[in-house]
Amino acid sequence: MAEFVGAVDQGTTSTRFLVFDHDGNEVGRHQLEHEQILPQAGWVEHNPVEIWERTSAVLRTTLNRLGLSGGDLAALGITNQRETTVVWNRRTGRPYANAIVWQDTRTDRIASRLEREGHGELIRRRAGLPPATYFAGGKIQWLLEHVDGLRADAERGDALFGTTDSWLLWHLTGGTDGGIHVTDVTNASRTMLMDLETLDWDDELLALFGVPRAMLPEIRPSSDPSGYGVTRANGPLDGEVPLTGALGDQQAAMVGQVCFAPGEAKNTYGTGNFLLLNTGTELVRSEAGLLTTVCYRFGDQEPVYALEGSIAVTGSAVQWLRDQLGIISGASESESLARQVPDAGGIVFVPAFSGLFAPYWRSDARGAIVGLSRFHTNAHLARATLEAICYQSKDVADAMEQDAGVPLEVLRVDGGVTANDLCMQIQADVLGVPVSRPAVTETTALGAAYAAGLAVGFWRDTDELRANWNEDRRWQPTWDEQQRTEGHARWRKAVERTLDWVD
Ligand code: G3P
Repeated sequence: MAEFVGAVDQGTTSTRFLVFDHDGNEVGRHQLEHEQILPQAGWVEHNPVEIWERTSAVLRTTLNRLGLSGGDLAALGITNQRETTVVWNRRTGRPYANAIVWQDTRTDRIASRLEREGHGELIRRRAGLPPATYFAGGKIQWLLEHVDGLRADAERGDALFGTTDSWLLWHLTGGTDGGIHVTDVTNASRTMLMDLETLDWDDELLALFGVPRAMLPEIRPSSDPSGYGVTRANGPLDGEVPLTGALGDQQAAMVGQVCFAPGEAKNTYGTGNFLLLNTGTELVRSEAGLLTTVCYRFGDQEPVYALEGSIAVTGSAVQWLRDQLGIISGASESESLARQVPDAGGIVFVPAFSGLFAPYWRSDARGAIVGLSRFHTNAHLARATLEAICYQSKDVADAMEQDAGVPLEVLRVDGGVTANDLCMQIQADVLGVPVSRPAVTETTALGAAYAAGLAVGFWRDTDELRANWNEDRRWQPTWDEQQRTEGHARWRKAVERTLDWVD
């Protein structure tokens, strides 16, 4: 019996492959970044071919380093940046264009027209999402309208749409030589094209975006005992490994954090932040600017839903300090630089680079640093960046409390930024509740491994997974009520300044 399960985590800035043992411990990994293509303000693209090549490379390298082969893996799971839209030709395998990334705002006119023409309510009710540039539907429409010949190919079923899970599953199972075209229900729930109740593509929504059904993947459970196929024998794993788990990265983190009961929540700090609350088999409609989304579906069990507060720019604001401003040389330096000052000196940074997502949903917003004087230094800006990560999460947590009607008691966190202890302390201070970090912070990959492993009986049930979860560290709030209220009021004032910036 194979001793390990593997998981590919195809994220916004990098692709990694991790191998886990039965206790949920990581035994090895490899990770490669890919290029962020920024052709003009508001546009963000990835090269899908580069993503596939990087995926192959991390698979091969990890197994080589560990001295393992595909046969040592009981199953393989895939998790991915959601919404990022790839359209490719099934005969040649070539993408028609670069992938349009979830942060890209080029479809703002499509989104605002849908609202203006009164379709917003239908999309909210059926897909659980507000019309916004974030989701895949508008991105597919944009490609169909701008790439010569694409619509005809799509109608014939030669052009295929997929988020990066579909793109990788298609390659791993054979590509032009019989690759399968599937996605899972959590990824499909981020397109504005799927009915949350039937879990199928919805004809009325497809008509709104002009998307031919023939280009869409089959929607499958997130953990599937019948599998999405096996990796092709001569592929990067050099063997046929069952592909049995697939889910969007934020939903995967819910599984990795074992948030299986209604009321359990986690916040992932990656490129953006994503706070999800398990609402069980009940579909909860948000009154406070959150999304309703599928949390996961295991085999033929009923789907489990979640409320989600998505924040576009958090960890990527730290990257911006590094790549665009050059004031730090690595993410960890954001902590040491911010520690040089006791606070942000009264400045507030609102990194609304892709407009503002939850709970505001304002694509007309753009970033701002307010309150500057000559006194301020790089250290204040670094501190304000960490505070922005935490205040954005506070706005979303407040919306979550409003929708759920119960106060948050503790926030489970994961993702790269949680290595920043100062940021986690500020988060506890801003929220006024403890923040808890698990021993395994790679919960996204772990969740995909769990989904894949459950399907093949590597793990028996979710109780067995719960037993694997351990806390590594907990931060207690230290601010008093007045500090918290004043800090949040200043943040909200700064957010107001960013609105109405673009038409
Ligand atoms: O919805 C976008 C999200 O899935 C991206 O996650 O971790 O790649 O920033 P991440």
